[in-house]
Amino acid sequence: MGRVTVNNLQEGMVLEEDLRAPNGRFILGKGATLKDKYIRMFKIWGITGAGVEGVEDGEVVRRALLEEDALRRSRSFVDAYFPPEDGEDVCATAVRSFCVRKFAEEFASGTSPSPLPEVKKLPRPPEGHFGRSFSAYAMAKDEVRLFSFPDIYFKIQEVINSPISSATSIAKVVGNDPNLAARLLKLVNSSFYGFPNPIQSIPRAIAIIGSNELTSLALAVSTMKVFKNVPEEYVDMKSFWRHSIACGVFSRLLAYNKRVRSEERFFLSGLLHDLGRILLYTKAPNEMTYALELSLFEHIPLWRAEKRVFGFDHTAVGKTLMEEWRIPRGISLLCAYHHDPVAEEAPEEACFVHLADYLANSLRVGTSGSLYFSGVDRALWERLELNEGDVEAVLVQGERQIREIMNIFLIS
Ligand SMILES: [Fe+2]
Ligand SMILES: [Fe+2]
Repeated sequence: MGRVTVNNLQEGMVLEEDLRAPNGRFILGKGATLKDKYIRMFKIWGITGAGVEGVEDGEVVRRALLEEDALRRSRSFVDAYFPPEDGEDVCATAVRSFCVRKFAEEFASGTSPSPLPEVKKLPRPPEGHFGRSFSAYAMAKDEVRLFSFPDIYFKIQEVINSPISSATSIAKVVGNDPNLAARLLKLVNSSFYGFPNPIQSIPRAIAIIGSNELTSLALAVSTMKVFKNVPEEYVDMKSFWRHSIACGVFSRLLAYNKRVRSEERFFLSGLLHDLGRILLYTKAPNEMTYALELSLFEHIPLWRAEKRVFGFDHTAVGKTLMEEWRIPRGISLLCAYHHDPVAEEAPEEACFVHLADYLANSLRVGTSGSLYFSGVDRALWERLELNEGDVEAVLVQGERQIREIMNIFLIS
């Protein structure tokens, strides 16, 4: 049994023995749960402490100090990379405080988040930089041959577009790739869908989620396979995909929250949104290192540094690549405008991917290279009509789904 002094008693603690005032008066019985109003009265009645189940006084003090310290460290950690706070923006404030709590837990449990990279000296451009010119189109065109897209996707598209297609013929195409089929089944049985009963076959999965949705998922699984072998010296692909999956999961949840139909395309768009960056890393590694250093030195988003270094950013490269791969325009446009969803020609739904990218960057779930990111336009928050509760729900649900999907996609 632990005796806890009155100042450290907290609501919810359970008494391990009867509690009496110094004059012997019975106050509360063994097993009673403390409430704030009782604790306030204890002081008035001269009670100095109580026997409480499961905690020692020293432990309470130690825990409180630890939490306070973890919160302080977490706040300064988040302040170092988060866009400046607009106190009146309730959604941004909710995201920020969620991050502070998340990292405080990590600091308190001893699994501190990895330190933020810093560049203190003005970076120098790579040799010959000013003599080189870059073209997003040429970069993507060249790489298409290198990263050839898997046949399976085109086969699925063919079947879907055929006038005599049926769920059985799609199932047959997917069934010919057992690895793809296995991953798709894991996905439809995960918390991503949360179906109460297990789905054991591809025809059943198609019947439940629909063939368009299944195509989006098949494309998602196939894309990750294409970029599996990018050498580590260019980019940490595991971290890159974690960021992309997070963006996909958050986009999908946001679209679901707003009752926008066919959420799978948002998952796919989130997954593909930074794809062009892989080409920048592999095609122009020295320039990308320079862009990364510039973004860290000037505390600006990496896409802004890319524009300075190349004259365009990864969205331009990604757009050409997706055109070459005949990825539906509805998806490639959501990706193309993920940094600028308020541009005139941007589709209305690009704001989901934009916001999802903001959430993934805020929570630092993986990274595609950018430490700094822009805040979300207030008009955009307002257009989406999200309240802080919606945002928190997306973050909580998302964290679990991201973990599960990471396992399905990256561990065979
Ligand atoms: Fe991006
Ligand atoms: Fe991103």
